[in-house]
Amino acid sequence: MPSETLRLRIAVQKSGRLADRSLELISGAGLRVMKGANELLYRIENQPIDLLRVRDDDIPTFVADGVAELGIVGYNVLAEHFPEDDLEERIVMRLGFGKCTLKIAVPDSVSYEGPLSLEGKRIATSYPNILGKWLKDRGVSATIVEMRGAVEVAPRMKIAHAICDLVSTGATLEANGMKAVDLVLASEAVLIKAPHAPPADLAHVYDMLLRRFDGVTASNG
Ligand code: PRP
Ligand code: ZN
Ligand code: MG
Repeated sequence: MPSETLRLRIAVQKSGRLADRSLELISGAGLRVMKGANELLYRIENQPIDLLRVRDDDIPTFVADGVAELGIVGYNVLAEHFPEDDLEERIVMRLGFGKCTLKIAVPDSVSYEGPLSLEGKRIATSYPNILGKWLKDRGVSATIVEMRGAVEVAPRMKIAHAICDLVSTGATLEANGMKAVDLVLASEAVLIKAPHAPPADLAHVYDMLLRRFDGVTASNG
């Protein structure tokens, strides 16, 4: 492949809580995003870089497999995909946006005295690995009910006694008559990297990008 066709790829969330802020970071770094005919791939006009626009859940695997050299994803999604002692080496930097927490929540009428209140209960979540480890570390045995979305309706539908879900403003819990009772994980957007170094011809673009992301992130405080 001639070197001028080589392009770096950054995996970003196509839509959802991090999508807009990810694009802001990218434009803040001086990259001009060209929305192409192709919804999956956006081109950067002024650098040999493409944005791979996918579901956030696909980002850790794409980056680990080297399909993209870099990715912008929530720490929560990363932590669900890989073991805890394996996370830091994948993270290039914390990006300071997309802050939210993964919390245990129960219906307003239910009392909660700590993790042991969950013993023998059913807990709905889209984060079975993170929740499984959290429960195990606390010696609690509970049934994890895995749901892809709409986790907040599970108690009302008698599918589960409690949920473990992301909380940002708290509006979803409130609208569903639930209260957050315990913290499982604090999250924010992180920049992750593939295990192998970028192609040599793109090393300068890669380094420039990291310096600029670092600059934008630092100036955002
Ligand atoms: C999360 C979570 C809640 C909502 C909480 O969903 O599952 O639905 O955000 O935010 P709030 O506290 O501000 O109401 P998200 O939008 O990440 O996507 P998903 O449920 O479609 O995966
Ligand atoms: Zn998702
Ligand atoms: Mg939701």
